[in-house]
Formats: sequence, C-alpha cells, structure tokens
Amino acid sequence: MVLAELITIVIVALIIIYTYSKYILFNYWRKKNVFYVEPVVPTGNIGSLLTSKVSVGEFFYDLYVKYKDHRAFGIYTFFKPNLVITDPDLIRAVLTKEFKNFHDRGFFCNEKVDPLTGHLIALSGKKWRNLRVKLTPTFTSGKIKQMFAILKLCGEELVSSLESVAQTGDRIEIKDWFGRYSTDIIMSTAFGVKSNCIEEGDNKFRYWGKTMFEEHPFWSVLSAFMPQVLVFFSIPFLDRGVTKFFTQIFQNNVKYRQTHNIVKYDFMNLLIQLMEKGYVEPDDVDIDESSPTNINKLTLLEAAAQAFVFFAAGFETASTTATFCLYELAQQQDLQDKICKEIDEILKKHGELTYNAVNEMTYLHKVINESLRKYPPVPILNRICTEEVTLPTTNIHVPKGMAITIPILGLQRDPSIYPDPDKFDPERFNEDKVAARHPYTFLPFGEGPRICIGSRFGYVQTKVGLVSLLSRFKFKLDPRTTVPIIIDKKSFVLAAKDGIYLTIEPRK
Ligand code: HEM
Repeated sequence: MVLAELITIVIVALIIIYTYSKYILFNYWRKKNVFYVEPVVPTGNIGSLLTSKVSVGEFFYDLYVKYKDHRAFGIYTFFKPNLVITDPDLIRAVLTKEFKNFHDRGFFCNEKVDPLTGHLIALSGKKWRNLRVKLTPTFTSGKIKQMFAILKLCGEELVSSLESVAQTGDRIEIKDWFGRYSTDIIMSTAFGVKSNCIEEGDNKFRYWGKTMFEEHPFWSVLSAFMPQVLVFFSIPFLDRGVTKFFTQIFQNNVKYRQTHNIVKYDFMNLLIQLMEKGYVEPDDVDIDESSPTNINKLTLLEAAAQAFVFFAAGFETASTTATFCLYELAQQQDLQDKICKEIDEILKKHGELTYNAVNEMTYLHKVINESLRKYPPVPILNRICTEEVTLPTTNIHVPKGMAITIPILGLQRDPSIYPDPDKFDPERFNEDKVAARHPYTFLPFGEGPRICIGSRFGYVQTKVGLVSLLSRFKFKLDPRTTVPIIIDKKSFVLAAKDGIYLTIEPRK
C-alpha cells in the first residue's frame, strides 16, 4: 500500500516537473518569437554533450549546418536559454561593435575557493579590464623577441631527442612530442623552471599538465554553461593537486628570483614586475613611478593565476595547431616540400633561426592559418550579455545574462565561405582571398577586445616547433592514423581521438 502511494507521488511529481519544464521553463524562445531547437526535459538541447556522444565543437558544428540560415537561434543548456549566432555581421556586433554589452564570457571563476581561476580568461567586468591593460605589454613583439632564445632552445632539444628515432624511420605520436615541447616552453617562461619534458616524457610536469586537461564531461559542461551552480555550492572546478602544484612552483621560483636578484627576460619576470610595481616596464620608454598605473599591484596568487592560464591557454592550443599542420603535410608531400624549401632558403639567408627569420616565412604562416581554419583548437566562442540590447538588423532582444555561443568550427568549414572545406589548402590565405572574405569568418583567436592575448606568442611557438622539425626531418602518415581524423568526444580542445602517428626520417 505504502509503496503504491509512493510510486503515485513520484509519478505525479515527475509529471508536474515535466509539464513545468516543457511549458514554462522551455517557453522562453517561443515567447520571444525567436527560432529555436526543440529541447528535451531535463537537459534541454545538450544531452548528447553530457553523455560525450559528440564533442563540443561537433555539437555546435551540427547546429550551425542545420540552422545557420536563421542567422541567430535559440537552444537550451539545461533550462538556460542560449543564443547561437551564425551570421558574421551579428558575430561582429557581439564581439566588437557592441562589446560594451557583451564583455564577459560567463565562465566559472571563484577566487576564494579556486584561487587559480582568477585569471584573464574567466574574470569579468572591471577586474578583467584592469588586468587586460596590465598584461597587454607582456605580449609585445619586443617582449616575445626577448624570449625567443628559450623557444629556440626547446626546438633544438626536440630535434636532438627525435634524431635517434628518425634514424630507424620509426613512428612517433606527434601530439605527445609537441605537448612536451610546449610544456617546456611555458614552464620555463611563466614558471621559471626547466621542466625537461622533452627528455623525460612522463615526469611530474607532464603528469599535472595532463591532469589539468582531463575532461569530466558533466563538470566541464556545467562550468561552461551554468557556472553559477558551482559557485553557489562552493564547488572547486580545478583539481586540488593541480592548484597546489602550480601555485607552489610559481611561489618558490618568484621567491628564489627575488632573494637572489635574478632578472630573466620572460613572462615570470613581467609578472614579478606586476607584483612589485603594478605595471610592466615598457620596452624603451621610461615610466613615471608616480603615475596612476602604479597602483593595484598583483598579489602572488593573482600573478600565479595568470602564469597558470598562460599554461592552460597556450599549451594545448599551440601543440594541437602544430600537430594538425604536420598531419596534413604528411598527407601532401608536395606541400611539405614547398614549406621545406621556404624554410631552407630563409634559414640560409639569416644564417640561423631568429625571430625575424621566422616572421619572414610567409608560406609557413599560411599553412598554420589553414590548420587553424580546418581544426580550430577552440571550436566555439562564448560571451554573456552584460547590458540588454537588441541585436542590430534583427528583432532579437538580448536580456542581461543571456549566454551567447559562436560556432567557429561551423563557420570555418562552411562550403559557402570556404569551398571544398575538407581540403587542406594554404593558398586560401593568399592576400586577395583573405580580402574577399568577411573578416569574421576566420576566428581561431576570437575577435574584439577579448581576442586571444597570446596569439603572437602562440604563432611563434608553433612556428619554431615546426621549423625545427621540418628543417631536419621528413614526415609521412603512419597507417595507424585515420583520414579523416576521429575527433575526441571528451576533449573541449579539438583533438584526434587516438593521437596522430607519423613516421619520421632524416631529410638529408
Ligand atoms: C595557437 C594557439 C592559440 C589559440 C588557437 C588560442 C585561442 C584563443 C581563443 C579562441 C581565445 C578566446 C578569444 C575570444 O573569446 O574572443 C583565447 C583567449 C585567450 N588566450 Fe589564447 N590561444 C592560443 C595561444 C595562447 C597562448 C600561447 C597564450 C598565453 C601565453 C594564450 C592566452 C590567452 C588568454 C589569457 C586569453 C583570454 C583573453 C581575455 O579574455 O582577455 N593563448 N585564446
């Protein structure tokens, strides 16, 4: 009897929840008269994301393909409405023209529970603006030029570690090698430590770097689309071990440099300047110490959070980009020969690998851009509406708090923008072809005031890795690697599911 009553109560409760969700909570877009994708109780439209049936990039790619003609359309992430924007003019409005109405991403950020989440990607409003202004001088070409020697050294170490493998013509998993190379670069420049990952593939730096990127689909989706839930319950997003490891390394090395008056030309030095003075010394101009910028010094934890985000934002993205370049070049030997010819000529002209030499390699730049087009490491962009506005040329009224998603993978593989989109063709980035396209159809680094702050560094890091390898080795596709790749469903960054295996042999 009791059991029967209980079952009845549960059934009635479920019917009430279902009806309330379907007809009240999921009524938002219908009421607003905006085209939307029919949701399902209780996950809205993101059921396949939560169960890792598709990756985030593929999920929004599929939506783009089906509904792009609506220019903007509604979906639900759980019960929360989310506006997906596919039209390049509307994208420009959100990212740039109406930036004041969309200046935040709405990502998880809780400095009390998770101090390392107080970084540039996640911060919002004035805090973000102040920090962005402070960090911008960190990424000038002058500053990157000063760090070039570190990148070059890592490139050389990568080559010497692969020399013996190349002699036997063996296969390598190239993403792992670029991951080790990127970890050594960012550990050295932002944390002031030689992590030796190129030599020791499985050390603690690699371990914690990988742990940071271990995907837990449910928590990742929750933190990206409904971070309020984590903040409300004071649930930390970052693994405790990751926070401890990166904070301690940063803290120890800052102390060491300060105690021994060590000055190196790297990110860590610039972050120390932000802690001690509140600003980064410009490359050539003397700064007035009493100027208003000399306030708001960064605390140690705030600075550590920035070093951490340089790692988090720069390590996977740059190594993925270099990996996909080699994956495509291994399939098209004529393109590989062409890029090698450019590399050889420019290295010969400069006598060695220099910052200027790398920047003269225009074909290399096109190859990297084509890789970023076909495989954008960050496949979507996010914004939150920070002040209500009607999207120009539409009757879509966007209220404060509305989440916006921009499906980059969809745009960059749209055949009406990039004909034959699966073809890897660097000539798409010839000047005339770029000029003929809408500028908001190539967005691997985002756009507007919140564009990637590290894009210049990301390019140089990728180029040094590729030039170092391609000047010495030839790459071919190993049969173990599929064409096309199978995308890893669990990874937010666009990545190949089972890695990318190439055979490597000496060039000369
Ligand atoms: C190929 C390499 C890279 C790619 C494809 C990439 C991509 C992106 C994208 C798509 C965004 C979001 C932009 C937006 O919302 O409009 C972003 C933001 C950011 N990236 Fe990168 N990134 C790369 C390398 C780097 C590197 C090397 C660093 C640092 C050393 C870095 C640091 C950041 C930071 C701090 C932000 C947040 C900027 C802000 O909100 O003000 N990125 N990146």
